[in-house]
Amino acid sequence: MQQSLSLNLFRARAYLNHWLETVDEHSIHSPFFFDFYEKVIKPKTYTGQPDIEAIRTNLLTSTTQIEMMDLGAASPHFQSHQRPLSKIAATSASPKPLCELLHRIVTFLQARKIVELGTSVGLTTLYLAHHPESRVFTFEGNKDLVQVALTHVEYFDKKNITIITGNIDQTLPDFIQNPTKIDFALMDANHRYAPTIRYFELLAKRIQTKGVIVLDDIHYSPEMNRAWNEIRRHPLVYGSVDLFRCGLLFFDPALNRQHYVWSI
Ligand SMILES: C[S@@+](CC[C@H](N)C(=O)[O-])C[C@H]1O[C@@H](n2cnc3c(N)ncnc32)[C@H](O)[C@@H]1O
Repeated sequence: MQQSLSLNLFRARAYLNHWLETVDEHSIHSPFFFDFYEKVIKPKTYTGQPDIEAIRTNLLTSTTQIEMMDLGAASPHFQSHQRPLSKIAATSASPKPLCELLHRIVTFLQARKIVELGTSVGLTTLYLAHHPESRVFTFEGNKDLVQVALTHVEYFDKKNITIITGNIDQTLPDFIQNPTKIDFALMDANHRYAPTIRYFELLAKRIQTKGVIVLDDIHYSPEMNRAWNEIRRHPLVYGSVDLFRCGLLFFDPALNRQHYVWSI
């Protein structure tokens, strides 16, 4: 109770600070960021597959019970309990406007190799995998959720999605052995400080110069806030955008270490 009150206070303060620091396109001096703002942030349009949202509508009434695993726990003995799929769809899956934004980013980048850490029910995965020439590798440790996401992948006949099952602590280091560069990554799995830094370090090794990493829930808790502030100052990061809900990281040295605070 006390903990959730202090977390809510933390988020309210973070939101106020974000609101005070927000700028619009008139304050953007970089041609790249201006173009990005005009094509990705400002439009609220979506040109992908419209029927993905019908899946969300169905999930929101599903009474199927999912065995939850605390994959973020330090203990190897996972805490386990059941939760209805409807609740997972309502609380864990990214909301439609964020999915659409992510779709616009991968379209803008013409991303070919896409990584998503944390599949959950696979809705964002479908948005990311719209372009058939792209390949999406999505990581999920909860086997029940993998089965749910797989039914959606099969329903839409998405041959360009690979679900990598297991704890990201083990699966991501293996995946990163492949030297092919990554164009886009969404980090939305373990919202703790240490794994966030670890997963970022691994992804940063393989990200394209023109690639983007999106870190979700950057102001969700003091430890995520700390991770975000450290990562955006990482030597390999040459540009960053704080959208409050998530942060965008850019790796092109030509961007000259600019940081923006925008609202979506
Ligand atoms: C917030 S949800 C992902 C939401 C999804 N990206 C979306 O946009 O709808 C986080 C997911 O990451 C998974 N996860 C958390 N820690 C993990 C870990 N260490 N290894 C594998 N999966 C993990 C959880 O099981 C959960 O399904």
